[in-house]
Amino acid sequence: MAPPADTPGVDEETARVRALYDAMAPRYDWLISLAERPLFGHGRDWACAQARGDVLEVAVGTGRRLPYYPPATRLIGVDLSPAMPAKAHSRADALNRPTDLRLGDAQHLDFPDATFDPVLATLTLCSIPDPEAAVAEMARVLRPGGRLVLLDHVATPNRAVRAIQRLLYALTVRFQGDHLLREPEHAVLAPGLVLVQPAPPAPSPRASTPKPPPQPSADS
Ligand SMILES: C[S@@+](CC[C@H](N)C(=O)[O-])C[C@H]1O[C@@H](n2cnc3c(N)ncnc32)[C@H](O)[C@@H]1O
Repeated sequence: MAPPADTPGVDEETARVRALYDAMAPRYDWLISLAERPLFGHGRDWACAQARGDVLEVAVGTGRRLPYYPPATRLIGVDLSPAMPAKAHSRADALNRPTDLRLGDAQHLDFPDATFDPVLATLTLCSIPDPEAAVAEMARVLRPGGRLVLLDHVATPNRAVRAIQRLLYALTVRFQGDHLLREPEHAVLAPGLVLVQPAPPAPSPRASTPKPPPQPSADS
């Protein structure tokens, strides 16, 4: 089905999201600190505890997870907004940990196939214009058997809360590029990833998805 005529294209919406985060960058840490404990609990600790080796963090933002990474990880962080990682640079310096921070679009990652394990993204699929394309790219750069670790907010099945999400939706998309009604599970399953729900159940959805190793072809 064709999108309505006034729906912006992905490129146009990506440019708009970049401008929104550039403007929000100086206030981002304060704004997110209001919501992250009640909504995500110890989600960042959970995500980073799974990091080993060559890690790609997609939409690294202000680098709020940098202090949680185990010291031996080799970390590359990518973000669309030039302003958001400015704080990540000072965090990396303060921690005295070498961190490679780059500008980039999650929908077109500038890395060869099978480069990283794991790939992490927190509070990211809610703000990327084409989350399916972003997950497909994360799966592409993930090594076979590797883990894609996601932490995000999604549409709730609770009807009362969902009604509130619907009310707020137009405002959060317009002013924060933030989609409250997404259900990214479909995007995660599309490239053939296997969904693993960690225990104990988290207050917000998390997914840790191992990439299946390549299957032998039928004629081998
Ligand atoms: C809600 S913030 C989350 C930042 C960080 N991941 C965190 O957990 O605090 C969303 C981030 O996604 C980035 N972003 C949005 N669209 C993107 C894209 N297409 N590619 C890369 N980063 C993107 C924004 O610049 C912003 O830093």
